Amino acid sequence: MQIYKVGGAVRDRLLGRSVSDIDWLVVGATVDQMQALGYRPVGADFPVFIHPRTGEEYALARTERKSGRGYGGFTFHASPDVTLEEDLIRRDLTINAMAEDELGNLYDPYHGKKDLEQRLLRHVSPAFAEDPLRVLRVARFAARYAPLGFRVADETRELMRRISASGELQALTAERSWKEIERALMEDQPQVFIQVLRDCGALKVLMPEVDALLDKQQSHTLQALEQAAGEQLPLHVRWACLLHELTDLDQAKALNQRFKAPRESQELALLVVECQTLCHGALELSAAELIELLQKFDVYRRPQRLEDFIAACQAQARSRGENQAYPQADYLRGAAAVAKAVDVKGLVEKGLTGQALGEALKEARLTALEAYRQR
Ligand code: CTP
Repeated sequence: MQIYKVGGAVRDRLLGRSVSDIDWLVVGATVDQMQALGYRPVGADFPVFIHPRTGEEYALARTERKSGRGYGGFTFHASPDVTLEEDLIRRDLTINAMAEDELGNLYDPYHGKKDLEQRLLRHVSPAFAEDPLRVLRVARFAARYAPLGFRVADETRELMRRISASGELQALTAERSWKEIERALMEDQPQVFIQVLRDCGALKVLMPEVDALLDKQQSHTLQALEQAAGEQLPLHVRWACLLHELTDLDQAKALNQRFKAPRESQELALLVVECQTLCHGALELSAAELIELLQKFDVYRRPQRLEDFIAACQAQARSRGENQAYPQADYLRGAAAVAKAVDVKGLVEKGLTGQALGEALKEARLTALEAYRQR
């Protein structure tokens, strides 16, 4: 049996990037041999094993044939007579289809190294189309390697276009798609991910609501997302920035649900779509409007949510070239501090409870915020 390092580890080493996890490929072995050597199988009918000591993944060389629609429709053919070349040809991109043996010799039958040098994301073979998730993967790699000058090869964009038009993207599960979206949004240039998906017609299928926004000349969606990434903001703030130009809450809800986005991302996107105008106009809000906004965020119990909201609104405003200092941010923080400083204990000690306490509290906060506005 021969063991090779494959995929991202080889690619990133050649790019001079740090390698986080290593995938290994085993050629010429059977499932029984692997188990006899102490490797633990990952699943009953998936030819991947975990190394007993290092915990790294070792996959048997395999060919994949499509037997139906969607990810569930794969059958694997793993056997000791599948060669290295046969395994590599069914992978997504040439830059991901290189292998390295224990001596550090490079096996590169599909010229991945040349494509790395030419900064090209190129599919290896028509087998690319067997997994439609690869359309999202290519867009994600384009985002990740954009700072290095990578672009999608014309023939690969054409294939991505055909896959997007075929209806296959709809068959992807929410979980698989979201994993790619999440990783792509956390890259340094997430707007490239969205743009590549748009260029091949995949965005129209996956996020028609966002695609329609980008048709408008005045759209700042991509700029806001870029700004959020430039400020190293967390995933949920980036998701909210991507959705911020939707005027319709139902559209935002539909996107949230389509990908089963995590709760934090879902919530923030809805709050931004609904309340961003109030944030931009915070300096002009009345005390009553301020209270309502703070209450909506449940700022007394969940202060971080207001911070995330402010960060998303600030990123949008900055991406439009508005006042970079964004005084609305500190103004809202100050209002929250004033509302929170109202002496609840004093009111309770006066014997107030229930609705009466709620009303007195609101009244006291209103008075405090009136004073805050006059400062
Ligand atoms: N692969 C593929 N098609 C997929 C997923 C994976 O062809 N849909 C292949 C590629 O050869 C890839 C390897 O499996 O390099 C390992 O996949 P994965 O660990 O998901 O990605 P990496 O390439 O290691 O990239 P990353 O740095 O994003 O983890």
